Amino acid sequence: MPDFSSPLPLAGKAALITGGARRIGRAIALDLARAGAAVAFTYRKSAADAFETERQLRGIGASSLGIQLDLRHSHAIHDALATAHAALGRLDIIVNNAGRYEDVPFEAISDAQWDAMMEANLRAPFLVSREAAPMLRANGGGRIINLGSVGASRAFPTHAHYCASKAGLEHLTRVMARALAPEIQVNAVSPGLITFEPELTAWERKMAARTPMRRGGKPEEVAEAVRWFATCSRFVTGQVLLVDGGLSLV
Ligand SMILES: NC(=O)c1ccc[n+]([C@@H]2O[C@H](COP(=O)([O-])OP(=O)(O)OC[C@H]3O[C@@H](n4cnc5c(N)ncnc54)[C@H](OP(=O)(O)O)[C@@H]3O)[C@@H](O)[C@H]2O)c1
Repeated sequence: MPDFSSPLPLAGKAALITGGARRIGRAIALDLARAGAAVAFTYRKSAADAFETERQLRGIGASSLGIQLDLRHSHAIHDALATAHAALGRLDIIVNNAGRYEDVPFEAISDAQWDAMMEANLRAPFLVSREAAPMLRANGGGRIINLGSVGASRAFPTHAHYCASKAGLEHLTRVMARALAPEIQVNAVSPGLITFEPELTAWERKMAARTPMRRGGKPEEVAEAVRWFATCSRFVTGQVLLVDGGLSLV
């Protein structure tokens, strides 16, 4: 039941965001906290950024917890989710945000690079969702939101492993939406070019020029779409929302 004593849409709810220490993941953590959620997030190497994200979450007044986690290991995922659940008292929203990205010509992609990409972008969201599903059901229902990519539907020739992993994740979103219904809604937000610094790299300038909106998106714009799926009607599931300034149309 929503908490009607609070005007915040996620008051009384708890969210876990993977890879939430920096960049898009941090923006999602802060946005969901501003909407009233208690927030746990995972990080792998970015301990200093995680410390800063926790500081900002505390500044919002949110219950928060940063958990060190390597998403390659299912036993570690089990422990991290149990820690988050124990600390926050419940879990209602899972955001599979952590991911890997690299630019490699097709014939130069090594076995290890292919496997690492699938591990981070496809296997980890599966493992986290499988582990979280009973916890979400325990509250009568919950929401899983995956971070896809415009690369799932556009064929970028030097990102074969990345594009394939994100296409897999978007389809996994649809399959999980059926498999976990009716208690759990599963949707995806798929960003296009997102920029973090005012000064763009040459590649970012090229992609921004190609984007119909003529700019890169902001992490906060991705977070807003994630919040929409975290708060929307219980009748929306299995959907992919592109937040790409129209790049997928080009
Ligand atoms: N940025 C964009 O323009 C863009 C465009 C399309 C889609 N996306 C998607 O949106 C999401 C967020 O994007 P982003 O650019 O903010 O992501 P990012 O900085 O590339 O990665 C987010 C976090 O994922 C964590 N991570 C990666 N591999 C991991 C592993 N094996 N175990 C645990 N954590 C791992 C890293 O944590 P640590 O730093 O702590 O190691 C990293 O900070 C990603 O899924 C990305 O694919 C982004």
